[in-house]
Amino acid sequence: MTISAIAAIGEAITAIEAQIGPVRAPLGMILGSGLGGLADQITHQRALPYDQIPHLPTSSVAGHAGQLVCGTWQGREVVVLSGRVHSYEGHSASDVVLPVRLLAGLGVHTVIVTNAAGAVNPDYQAGDLMVLSDHINLQANSPLIGANDARLGPRFPDMTEAYDKELRALTLQIGRKHGLRVHEGVYAAVLGPAYETPAEVRMVRILGADAVGMSTVPEVIAARHMGMAVLGLSCLTNLAAGLSGGTLNHDEVKEVAGGATAGMIGLIAAVVRAMPPLTLRAAFRAQFEAPSAL
Ligand code: HPA
Repeated sequence: MTISAIAAIGEAITAIEAQIGPVRAPLGMILGSGLGGLADQITHQRALPYDQIPHLPTSSVAGHAGQLVCGTWQGREVVVLSGRVHSYEGHSASDVVLPVRLLAGLGVHTVIVTNAAGAVNPDYQAGDLMVLSDHINLQANSPLIGANDARLGPRFPDMTEAYDKELRALTLQIGRKHGLRVHEGVYAAVLGPAYETPAEVRMVRILGADAVGMSTVPEVIAARHMGMAVLGLSCLTNLAAGLSGGTLNHDEVKEVAGGATAGMIGLIAAVVRAMPPLTLRAAFRAQFEAPSAL
């Protein structure tokens, strides 16, 4: 990317609003594998494919069809990124986080990030859900590398509470009330695209991970840099390599993700209904609007 993130996002917002009208939603979501069904439930829907949004990277992975969808869901105004790009597709870390920066640029206060992951904790089963309590970045990369733009956030952002404490507690409480198998755990992000070796899975377990996946962490780093609140949710589509006696393939991951979709969407719906009111970050948003001619 040759222009600044602020300028790129400003151009993206201008193009989006020219095509689908004003977007004013304090709640954003980034949906991973298999959760496109949530976007279909949005009413008063206005949608735009990523390839019609300037600067937004587009995904090449099956199950990650990319579009921005806004409208009303569970009684709230939402803006949803249905489909994401991954570092393993060859996108730079700063391109991978352009979508979450776009959400922040639109004024989003709280973002829900979902993914599919392999279970590393031996107490977990395929099909369980996990609320991210924390993460370990093993991607050997960061979207914040390079000159820091202080309009986005500080040079050295704090990551002590990357995942919002209240939202985590709310999600666990609601999940358990609904009888779902939902855990709270640490997500280790690797680069992929090869699944881990059994030795790597043993390593991430020793390091303190409960699940392993290939996404989410760049977006969460960028979201926290910009001061957004984050709720992270994993669908544990499989036991990580070496833990099941079998081998791994993407079709099975997609199949389990599909089967767990209803539970995951139901959980997110109940959490969204129970969340406290959110306020649009108007001042943050104003930074992305084209300066008016003097
Ligand atoms: N490893 C990494 N990423 C994944 C996995 C896994 O086992 N399952 C789904 N995404």
